[in-house]
Amino acid sequence: MPSAPPASVRCNARPYLHGPEITAMARAVEAGQYGHGPQADLFERELADFLQVPDVVAVSSATMGITLALQACGVGPGTEVIVPSQTFAATIQPIVALGAAPRFIDHAPHTLCIEPDAVREAITPATRAVLPVLYGGRPVDLSSITLLLQRRNIHIVEDAAQAFGSRRTPGPATTVYSFGPIKQLTALVGGAIVPRTTAEANALRQMRSLGITASQTDRIRTTTYTVQGPGLRGFLSDVNAAVGRVQLERFQEVADRRTALWDAYAQALRGTDNVTLIDVGPDAVPFNCVVRIADRDRVHQAMRDRGIGVGVHYPPNHLQPAFAHWTRPLPVTEAAAAEILSLPFHPAMTPDDARWSATALLETLADTPSTPSGTP
Ligand SMILES: Cc1ncc(COP(=O)(O)O)c(C=O)c1O
Repeated sequence: MPSAPPASVRCNARPYLHGPEITAMARAVEAGQYGHGPQADLFERELADFLQVPDVVAVSSATMGITLALQACGVGPGTEVIVPSQTFAATIQPIVALGAAPRFIDHAPHTLCIEPDAVREAITPATRAVLPVLYGGRPVDLSSITLLLQRRNIHIVEDAAQAFGSRRTPGPATTVYSFGPIKQLTALVGGAIVPRTTAEANALRQMRSLGITASQTDRIRTTTYTVQGPGLRGFLSDVNAAVGRVQLERFQEVADRRTALWDAYAQALRGTDNVTLIDVGPDAVPFNCVVRIADRDRVHQAMRDRGIGVGVHYPPNHLQPAFAHWTRPLPVTEAAAAEILSLPFHPAMTPDDARWSATALLETLADTPSTPSGTP
């Protein structure tokens, strides 16, 4: 049994700053613009260049971005959104907040991501959007049903909160990223939407500004303004944008670190009898390292007792009291939910730390006899 865990594996995830973020943030604070200002404008432009897309709309969080993107495509009372149950509650709450119904579906057992067949089967006359979650950073390819969705006026809004830097999936989706504390790119808090069209971009900009047509800068120069439609307080502050800009400039370092970490885990755990790795695939900048194991709760406790920062992401949403109204049997999700374990994973870890953590997992499993995990 390895001795005390290296300091970095004591937590499951944590923010990774390069250093100059602090100065950038202090300058933005001194500049006195805490709303959407010049830093946020620059961040939007730089994100669009990085992602090689025409436009990006910065928002206060991915939760806000998902809410606005769903509302912009007509999600509201009387409509349904097809969504995996295996995700953070932040994916589901926007649907409910808009008065719509989440239509929970199962994911594939080895990726925890939804697949086209399950989406097709879940479509009803009320379906207005599909909300795939790019779990762990893995792109979700729904291109085989794009035409079907378009014919039925069903929009794809990607919850890419965990997928900044991953290869973009081809096809007509609105994509929402998170720049929360432990994401691939952090703005401390924040998010961004990649719209499909200029019209959608304009609508989203208005919606993130309480439905007011004029930008913040233009508004203060005039005696009145127009509230044209729905909206929320959803802008990204210049202070957060300043941090995000530094992170974007140095993103490759984080991408490389995360990829090296994931590879080290995969090498150590692939081919073991009692551990199934949730594969993020070749196109992801990995967000996490999740395994499926039998007797998860006991292993989770044993690892935590040793000071290792394991976690569970996530308890499924269709079994949560808040979403009980929309629950339905999801056998694949429920089987996975009992087995998933997130290993320590953040860019301050080294590949050696990952190997240490993988060894600790294998030793913990060997310590207690258990049945093989239920994955096929
Ligand atoms: C899958 C998923 N969706 C949505 C969110 C919400 O992101 P934010 O914290 O930027 O609102 C998160 C954040 O952890 C997430 O992991």
